[in-house]
Amino acid sequence: MKRYKPKVFIIGATGYTGQHLVRTLCQQNTPTVAHVRPDSPRAEACCERFSSWGARVDRTPFTVAALASTFASDPPSHIYCLLGTTRRRSRESGGHETYQSVDVALTETALEAAKLGAASAHLIYLSAIGAGRTTSAYLRARTSAEALIRQSGLAYTVVRPSFISGSDRDERRVGERLGAIVTSSALNLVGALGARRFAARYRPRSGAELALGLATIAKSSTFCNKTIFADALDPT
Ligand SMILES: NC(=O)c1ccc[n+]([C@@H]2O[C@H](COP(=O)([O-])OP(=O)(O)OC[C@H]3O[C@@H](n4cnc5c(N)ncnc54)[C@H](OP(=O)(O)O)[C@@H]3O)[C@@H](O)[C@H]2O)c1
Repeated sequence: MKRYKPKVFIIGATGYTGQHLVRTLCQQNTPTVAHVRPDSPRAEACCERFSSWGARVDRTPFTVAALASTFASDPPSHIYCLLGTTRRRSRESGGHETYQSVDVALTETALEAAKLGAASAHLIYLSAIGAGRTTSAYLRARTSAEALIRQSGLAYTVVRPSFISGSDRDERRVGERLGAIVTSSALNLVGALGARRFAARYRPRSGAELALGLATIAKSSTFCNKTIFADALDPT
């Protein structure tokens, strides 16, 4: 198994998982650039936080040309893409931001920029557990984004987590939190009945736990060009 000394760029760094990943990588002394888009509503709090953890904050506009030039000026070995909108954010934007315009189109922007400015980078994409199915707009978007990644020619890892939930999330997400609690209880029962692998795959994870797993991807070639579930990242 090859070991790498990664240099990481994180798109979606301001999100719940993104913030945990920035902190985890900084704690592991991995050189980390946290991207904060110019119009991010979380910019003020996040820029200060990231700098205090030792990350470099990057405010490049979210366009192919601008991101490509940023990548080219200091090519990362790994680019994490942890972005996505929610039904609530989409509603609040008056329908301007959709799964298609954020989850798919901005992932494509990041991919095109990486192809131009950091073609040897390994892209790590945080997808979702039902991706591959087309039963909802969210899953259709995830399915499309995953397909773009696999067709990009870049080295990639696609990770499909179940609920990402924790009491430390700074945004109120009652449905997600309830879903995580109910799923956890049901899976404890399933696990006790013997279906441990299924329970491990579907169990909710906190941002901190998922970030620890995501950070391991940049340190070896084990997960290169693979689509994995979050249990593949659990410590053995
Ligand atoms: N939450 C779950 O239970 C769950 C489960 C499975 C998979 N996932 C997926 O995992 C990923 C991370 O989840 P999370 O809960 O950590 O995410 P989150 O807290 O909702 O953060 C989303 C990230 O996407 C960025 N983003 C949203 N709209 C954007 C826009 N219009 N332009 C540019 N960036 C934008 C946000 O940036 P700003 O802060 O600048 O807005 C933020 O960095 C998401 O793709 C999500 O779909 C989530």
